[in-house]
Amino acid sequence: MTRNIKFILNNEFINADVNPAGVILDFIRDNQLTGTKEGCKEGDCGACTVLIGELKNDEVVYKSINSCLFPLGNVHGKHVVTIEGINQSGKELTPIQQAFVEEGASQCGFCTPGFIISLTGYLLSAESLDAKDALYSMDGNICRCTGHNSIIRAAERITSKFNKLTGQSENKIQVLADYGFVPDYFLHIKERLSKIDKAEFHREVNGDSTYFVSGGSDLFVQIPDVMMKSTIKFLYDNPEIKFIREENGHILIGSTSTVNEVLNSKIMLTYFPSLFNFIELFGSLPIRNSATIGGNLNNASPIGDMTSFFLGLNSTIVLADRDDNLREIPMRDYYLSYKKTARNGDEYMKYLYFKIPTKPYYFNFEKVSKRTYLDIASVNSTILIETSDDIISDVHISAGGVSAIPLYLRKTRDFLLNKTLSVDLIKDAVEMAGNEAAPISDARGAADYKKLLLKRLLFSHFIKLFPEIISIKDTVID
Ligand SMILES: Cc1cc2nc3c(=O)[nH]c(=O)nc-3n(C[C@H](O)[C@H](O)[C@H](O)COP(=O)(O)OP(=O)(O)OC[C@H]3O[C@@H](n4cnc5c(N)ncnc54)[C@H](O)[C@@H]3O)c2cc1C
Ligand code: FES
Ligand code: FES
Repeated sequence: MTRNIKFILNNEFINADVNPAGVILDFIRDNQLTGTKEGCKEGDCGACTVLIGELKNDEVVYKSINSCLFPLGNVHGKHVVTIEGINQSGKELTPIQQAFVEEGASQCGFCTPGFIISLTGYLLSAESLDAKDALYSMDGNICRCTGHNSIIRAAERITSKFNKLTGQSENKIQVLADYGFVPDYFLHIKERLSKIDKAEFHREVNGDSTYFVSGGSDLFVQIPDVMMKSTIKFLYDNPEIKFIREENGHILIGSTSTVNEVLNSKIMLTYFPSLFNFIELFGSLPIRNSATIGGNLNNASPIGDMTSFFLGLNSTIVLADRDDNLREIPMRDYYLSYKKTARNGDEYMKYLYFKIPTKPYYFNFEKVSKRTYLDIASVNSTILIETSDDIISDVHISAGGVSAIPLYLRKTRDFLLNKTLSVDLIKDAVEMAGNEAAPISDARGAADYKKLLLKRLLFSHFIKLFPEIISIKDTVID
């Protein structure tokens, strides 16, 4: 077993004996690749965006991540692409760089590498080009001086000029290289990556205290220095816990499935067609590419969005210890007190599962935050209702941000069960949910305000799901 991390950085093979808890941004910049910028170092600005390419089903799949939060331990066997790596000619600009020049989309230039990388990642991954999707790919990139309109125009210029490009050939990378979007060395990355033994990297590193690390998007914001001295167990690339599958009437989700993998899962979209509307409120695209379900649930924040989502589906968590002995805990019993779960120190979450709801069923997620995008929730809530002959045959409701733990509204559930929906029933249930909540006042709002928010979110669930029964005018507070 080796502790060395092997990966390809742009066109260069790296075999480095480094602390795997260092973040890729520091490694890149220490190696004189200073085009990638350090802005916030908290995942908020996108100046540090790089592409990570990974071999999947015999092709290299690229995604954007925030290098300021992505540990080196997560890049073994992968291709890391910085702004220097997409234009190695030193003479001509790539079509995306050219579009930025023509639209005046760069002034101080601090944000520009991040935008260019995100758009290049979009071209490398998109099936067909579309201005709206190109804009979506830059989600999380912030420009402080140009104003975003010229950047949006540059993206539109690319998508309209090259919209036939992606359908031209089976070999998309060849087409992109032919048009100068990426250098020719991209054509050989697949073969080069296949020569790196992914299992070779020692996924446990010894230090003082012990941490499981998945995407790192919580840990490397909170305690990057502690991570450098800790015993780390890297989970992100463990293939055994990266899956989404349907089995015997249940959906099983491996703990290192990322938020974006859940969002794009055909299985999840079959049963939850509005998934995009719920999950687009989670962080930004690069964060969704690294943030995992296991990380969200085990961070145990009372306002975790995926925690609310899966608690509302009445999920069960499956834990494994060192010897792979499994233990199951219903999510509603998993959270014991603030940030404390029923998981023992040597156990990690392997996967969760939940029953596929019986039709007809109604599902909704609501989130209110101080800023609509790229912000954690002040309060969030999820509801699942199954009905039979207009009677509520099953119901689960979660509420985040209104207690020290992610709350499963047990009393409100019991109250609603086996009843027929009506305006009066909904009003009584909302009142009961408000009484189950015990929020505290903090930077996200006063306790009374959060309680009121929860009640309004519950009304939103019912108004969206049962517009024939209740409308906004029924919920006006006297
Ligand atoms: C800019 C930004 C925006 C964000 N926006 C949102 C948002 O909108 N909504 C939201 O809910 N969160 C948000 N987050 C928080 C974070 O991205 C999520 O909580 C994410 O899901 C954490 O997953 P991770 O894999 O990155 O966790 P990590 O940082 O790797 O780990 C988080 C915690 O979980 C533990 N852990 C990880 N995997 C396991 C496992 N399999 N078993 C046991 N323990 C494990 C770790 O030890 C650690 O304590 C945001 C973060 C940033 C930086
Ligand atoms: S430096 Fe701002 S997102 Fe990484
Ligand atoms: S050009 Fe200055 S921050 Fe975007």
